[in-house]
Amino acid sequence: MSAMARGWITAAQLAAFDAAGTDAHRIFSDGDGWVERLAEDALISHKTDGARDAMREALAEWCAVSGWQPRRIFGKLLPRQNEDRDPPVLLTGDAALPLTGEVREDGVRYGLDFAAGYSAGLFLDQRMNRAFIRRAAPKRMLNTFAYTCSFSVVAALAGAETVSADLSRKSLDRGKANFSLNDLDPDAGHKFIADDVLEVLPRLARREKKFDAIVLDPPTFSRGNKGRRWQVEQHLEDLVIATMELAAPRARILVSTNCTKLQFADLERVARFALKFHRRAGDVHREAQPPDFPPGHGARTLWISLRG
Ligand SMILES: C[S@@+](CC[C@H](N)C(=O)[O-])C[C@H]1O[C@@H](n2cnc3c(N)ncnc32)[C@H](O)[C@@H]1O
Repeated sequence: MSAMARGWITAAQLAAFDAAGTDAHRIFSDGDGWVERLAEDALISHKTDGARDAMREALAEWCAVSGWQPRRIFGKLLPRQNEDRDPPVLLTGDAALPLTGEVREDGVRYGLDFAAGYSAGLFLDQRMNRAFIRRAAPKRMLNTFAYTCSFSVVAALAGAETVSADLSRKSLDRGKANFSLNDLDPDAGHKFIADDVLEVLPRLARREKKFDAIVLDPPTFSRGNKGRRWQVEQHLEDLVIATMELAAPRARILVSTNCTKLQFADLERVARFALKFHRRAGDVHREAQPPDFPPGHGARTLWISLRG
């Protein structure tokens, strides 16, 4: 491979990640998949077996140039249907090594578990949004669809009291472990609610709870309590409206989706509709695309900043 070929991060980018205390980032991206560095391991996400084999070969060449060597390589099929999602499989490396470990992002530690399911524990495309939360330093933060609570961890590190809600108690337990990894006491000013976000939001509103930052990063499809089906394309507007009810003056709300049918313009339309519905003034902006995510890769995200 001549120097760093198209789609692969450069030596300077790799050095910048190391200098920033980040060892969880993309190494390569294209239309057939991508390669991530997760601490000492690499994970190849591929649409086809052919794409996996090509990325594996190119990774070996990139490693020879960059000087970074993974101790293991995992592979994960990117299926057409969510139902076909499987955990990563070990392609090379010592099968006796533990499948759990940790990564760092901007010096913050997060647990990983390659056996826990399709996702190992940290969504790398949200790095700039986590950094935004940390800079914004909210006093009270609500993290809906919290998964392993990475947004809550950065908010707590900036001094916030946090509420994290997710249907999966297991994910919230991993979130608490992420607090502990960063010397934060998960029982000191933080709540973890294992419940359907669609029920949590009105409950918090009835109690007149207000938050300075709210994260809304729902899945494309969800089956909530009582088997209720929820689909982001149809229900995002209702969700943003319900969320804005809980927003304190000058609050920031992150709206994020992986649904490929929703683009930034759709999120902006939903955000402006919710502002109008609540008769509140606000601005919308996007954080910069992470440098290791080419255009078209990663979630579509938008911040609403309330003016009052
Ligand atoms: C896309 S992940 C969120 C990722 C998270 N924002 C992050 O950056 O780490 C979606 C999460 O939503 C949760 N979930 C799905 N439907 C839900 C519902 N109705 N109520 C609460 N959580 C739900 C899943 O358990 C999963 O953890």
